[in-house]
Amino acid sequence: MLLSVEQVHRSYRMPRRRMFRAPPVIAAVQGLSLTVAQGEVLGIVGESGSGKSTLARLVMGFERPDQGRVLLNGQEAHRLPAAARRQTQMVFQDPSDSLDPRRSIGWSITEPLLAMGLRAAERHARAADLLARVGLAPADMHRYPHEFSGGQRQRIAIARAISPDPALLVADEPVAALDVSVQAQVLNLLLELNLTLGLAMLFISHDLAVVASIADRIAVMHHGRIIETGPTARIVSAPAHPYTQALFAAA
Ligand SMILES: Nc1ncnc2c1ncn2[C@@H]1O[C@H](COP(=O)(O)OP(=O)(O)O)[C@@H](O)[C@H]1O
Ligand SMILES: [Mg+2]
Repeated sequence: MLLSVEQVHRSYRMPRRRMFRAPPVIAAVQGLSLTVAQGEVLGIVGESGSGKSTLARLVMGFERPDQGRVLLNGQEAHRLPAAARRQTQMVFQDPSDSLDPRRSIGWSITEPLLAMGLRAAERHARAADLLARVGLAPADMHRYPHEFSGGQRQRIAIARAISPDPALLVADEPVAALDVSVQAQVLNLLLELNLTLGLAMLFISHDLAVVASIADRIAVMHHGRIIETGPTARIVSAPAHPYTQALFAAA
């Protein structure tokens, strides 16, 4: 299995508020299990604070679980060697988080390849190819982030994420900051990359309609747990859990 999350717990200790009292603890993810197969898009939906971004950080290996395991191709995510770590890449809500304002687009999208020892000519060719894949012009590699719209910047962040040829993309609210018309274009791009590259995704959003438009399966998160999971068509046509029904009612 490409990704398997097994009974994972992750809590955060808040700053101590009173001297002789135990500091409060927030259980962000509680006994969560899921799998993502190669080429599959698993949608994670849940309201703000339900633990979605914590799950994303655990899958990326940025944090380690307190209990349970996060396995990528059978290896624990937080202790992967560099080459295996490149197999999982992330796209954030704000593309600025992964683009250096002082660097050209071409530099930013091929930076993840530096460690792989590519020569300048190879990086140039790869930058042109990546920009074409995300619907931008190869000549855009010489421009800077501020010269692009929000939707274009998210395309560039996606180009950077796919540049080391990952097997899994973790997308945490990738369209939440975009206008609705631009959202649809970026979702189409992600779907196209899923189909053409066989890129698997953990696609996270608070918006059930957005998740349903791209996911093969959906897992609904609530208070750090998955309360319902199933094929997208089933979740959409017959949500079983009252909380899932409420998410639809709110949409
Ligand atoms: N680094 C952190 N320190 C303390 N609390 C955190 C931290 N990260 C997340 N939390 C808390 O964990 C819970 C889940 O947060 P998060 O994973 O960001 O949810 P979501 O992405 O679904 O909005 C929230 O109550 C949040 O305040
Ligand atoms: Mg979040």
